[in-house]
Amino acid sequence: MSDPRLESLRAAAPGLRLATAPDELLHYGRDWTRRWTPAPLAVALPATVDEVQAVLRWASAEGVAVVPSGGRTGLSGGAVAANGELVLSLERMRRVLAFDPVDRTLTVEAGAPLETVQEAARQHGLQYPVDFASRGSCTIGGNIATNAGGIRVLRYGNTREWVAGLKLVTASGELLDLNRGLVKNSSGYDLRHLAIASEGTLGVVVEATLKLAPPPPPVATLLLALPSFEVLMQVFQALRGRLALEAFEFFTGTCLRHVVAHGAQAPFEREYPYYVVLDAAAEGPDDERLLEAFGHCAEQGWVEDGVVAQSQAQAAQLWRLREGITEALAPHLPYKNDVAVRVSAMPAFLAEAQALLAAEYPEFEVAWFGHIGDGNLHINVLKPTELGQEAFVARCAEVTAHLAGLVERHGGTISAEHGIGLVKKPYLGCTRSAAEIGIMRALRAALDPAGILNPGKLFDPPER
Ligand code: MLT
Ligand code: ZN
Repeated sequence: MSDPRLESLRAAAPGLRLATAPDELLHYGRDWTRRWTPAPLAVALPATVDEVQAVLRWASAEGVAVVPSGGRTGLSGGAVAANGELVLSLERMRRVLAFDPVDRTLTVEAGAPLETVQEAARQHGLQYPVDFASRGSCTIGGNIATNAGGIRVLRYGNTREWVAGLKLVTASGELLDLNRGLVKNSSGYDLRHLAIASEGTLGVVVEATLKLAPPPPPVATLLLALPSFEVLMQVFQALRGRLALEAFEFFTGTCLRHVVAHGAQAPFEREYPYYVVLDAAAEGPDDERLLEAFGHCAEQGWVEDGVVAQSQAQAAQLWRLREGITEALAPHLPYKNDVAVRVSAMPAFLAEAQALLAAEYPEFEVAWFGHIGDGNLHINVLKPTELGQEAFVARCAEVTAHLAGLVERHGGTISAEHGIGLVKKPYLGCTRSAAEIGIMRALRAALDPAGILNPGKLFDPPER
């Protein structure tokens, strides 16, 4: 028998598509964290802004919790529905609505996949430069809700930099048209920026007007094998001064071993401690500036081995070594950490974190990779086969608490780009002061007095 609340939702939003089959609840109730058992009430699949408004008006009136849902590629549990919530999936709202050649903006519905946006920009001779491996599955709404970063932040910044306008439906069903694509707007609080990274707790993004950039320059792709992280930072400094870097990513020998075991081709005959894959503006693999910069690093004795891609296909192959890490690690049920410190603090932080893990948690294999240009390290703790999942998660919570303390001492953040969601909620206080969290709570209460929007994410709801 259908839940009476769904009958009342059907009456409040006639024509709304609702999914309730067990496989649908499973599919829409979880994200890539795979740690919680999905248990949503149902899945609402609106096709219009009006329908989103009707759902939220109804949810506020009935006190039903709502989990906004994009591509569910998140790694912090922000889109998990494990407590009888209504999942509000934006996947049917995926159209590219408008391109403005004068403003250089693209207006899209929130459910548009990142790759669709990138492709639409390319068709107009421009680029949408935010980019990362889940581009085919993640959506713009989810990118905005987490202020997604990725592999080109060093050059272009996070999602936040590219949002010129936002349409947001509040918990009470009101539609806010924020900033309307304006370049300059000093008319008080910028609610658009409050919504960005709010993880669906302040409203549901239904539409975005995105800035576009000129197309990227032709680039050369390099893979370098390096002996230590200190050298890696020296290489970064040297190359940043000599080349226009479009991306500069690192990973360890451990990561490479997993990617190769997962089917990628090993780039060199032996394994090295660290690797960098980078894109630099260049006319081709023989570009003089490139050769000079590479030569300089080699002369310093920094580079153990290296390859410059000779074709697009080879460049894609080199990038697969970096972009394939998440997928290659997935079977090992990694416990993910997504920390950031100032770029200058990275070597000290990394050395301390590595020493801590080796001394206190020697039973774990740890895969390090991430985004050097913006100080973001992904520390993936892999589950030993003999350890049960629950015991592993409990032990990893200790690891994360330890790391969070280290992050706090280095003035960093426990989430650079994945968001807080459920996974990092216990450690929010290591990154944000009590006063800040108090203001965040007050904002949430002001915008969502009934507490229906993604409750339990970011921080716990107040005791009632
Ligand atoms: C990445 O940089 O590849 C992503 O943040 C995904 C991950 O951490 O696994
Ligand atoms: Zn990342």
